Amino acid sequence: MTLAGKHIVLGLSGGIACYKAAELVRGLVKAGAQVQVVMTASAQQFITPVTMQALSGRPVFSNQWDSRISNHMAHIDLTREADAIVIAPCSADFMRKLVHGAADDLLSALCLARPATLPLLVAPAMNVEMWENPATQRNAAQLRQDGVHLLGPVAGEQACGETGLGRMMEPESLLESLTSFFYPKQLLGKKVLITAGPTFEPIDPVRGITNLSSGKMGYAIARAAAMAGATVTMVSGPTALTPPSGVQTVSVTTARQMYDAVMASVSDKDVFIAVAAVADWQVTEVSAQKIKKQDAAAPSLSFKENPDILAAVAALPAPPYCVGFAAESENLLEYGAAKRLKKNIPLLVGNIGHQTFGKDDNELVLFDAQGQHPLPRASKDQLADRLIIEIAKRLTP
Ligand code: C5P
Repeated sequence: MTLAGKHIVLGLSGGIACYKAAELVRGLVKAGAQVQVVMTASAQQFITPVTMQALSGRPVFSNQWDSRISNHMAHIDLTREADAIVIAPCSADFMRKLVHGAADDLLSALCLARPATLPLLVAPAMNVEMWENPATQRNAAQLRQDGVHLLGPVAGEQACGETGLGRMMEPESLLESLTSFFYPKQLLGKKVLITAGPTFEPIDPVRGITNLSSGKMGYAIARAAAMAGATVTMVSGPTALTPPSGVQTVSVTTARQMYDAVMASVSDKDVFIAVAAVADWQVTEVSAQKIKKQDAAAPSLSFKENPDILAAVAALPAPPYCVGFAAESENLLEYGAAKRLKKNIPLLVGNIGHQTFGKDDNELVLFDAQGQHPLPRASKDQLADRLIIEIAKRLTP
């Protein structure tokens, strides 16, 4: 969402990671960004301008004297509408050129001629020894000092057969970093605690009771909060999802474990968002051995109530700003308002319909002291972005 409408000048310098830049352009364009590709002569040894032009939908520039720009001021014209210059891949030699203010080709000249307010982000890509060489390390430190944002490199196998730091970040991670870069930092300096996913209440070592929560909404909210600049801790029940980057994740199984993990971490938090679908009941006597199928009648289970994590946090002497979720199968609008009051929380988020479990999109309604506010159907990621804006607004009225 945050990349939509952004003008990105994507510069490619020479390196085998140029093939990943093709995927990066696709991702940027898909996210709604306008991408102007500029290539050095060496980059064109690795991937053709035709490929980059087809993917970006715009002519590619590489020559300072390109006659398509009538005043021969490509190094000025190409950046004046831009929101950022991204160099991916950025070779060791191109880092050197940036450090020294070189301007002997179009890409280095336009970096040098960029307005002071235009961000420059570079994704280094090179052999591990080149990256670790003191010369490159000096250049990396100088670039940071000059206000250039370094994205990566990361460790791993390299095209040359060696292993170590120097790989360019994967296109997906670069997209994530760029999204985060442009994301409004409404929760900067805030500490946010989130519960996500289902809980699993054991019956015996191989059986248990759980629910259909996939964790998608909670993970999307954790990701959005982290992008908004918050320090995020997520306590997650069992899910098949990868925790968002930059989110400290505590994995739990049962409601009791979720309660303990939340209580251990809540004291310094500014916001608590209870997204988890917590089991209301746990089995009283969990069998240490697998319960055998018996000839006699089916076994019966007895239950005891689990602690209500959200209500417990809301009842603390100095609670964080508490946000609850509700998934009702009927009368959501009536129950939602009542549930917010019952849990004694300032904001409750209702899922419209209870068929949301596992889906990628959702439709929400917010209940607060002022009444109801609908958040129309959208992807869970987009709704998470909206929700973070709504929470941030309420923290600083
Ligand atoms: O009461 P109900 O389960 O409908 O409330 C749902 C809200 O309360 C959700 O925000 C859920 O994460 C939270 N909850 C909790 N601990 C429980 C049960 C629900 O934190 N034991």
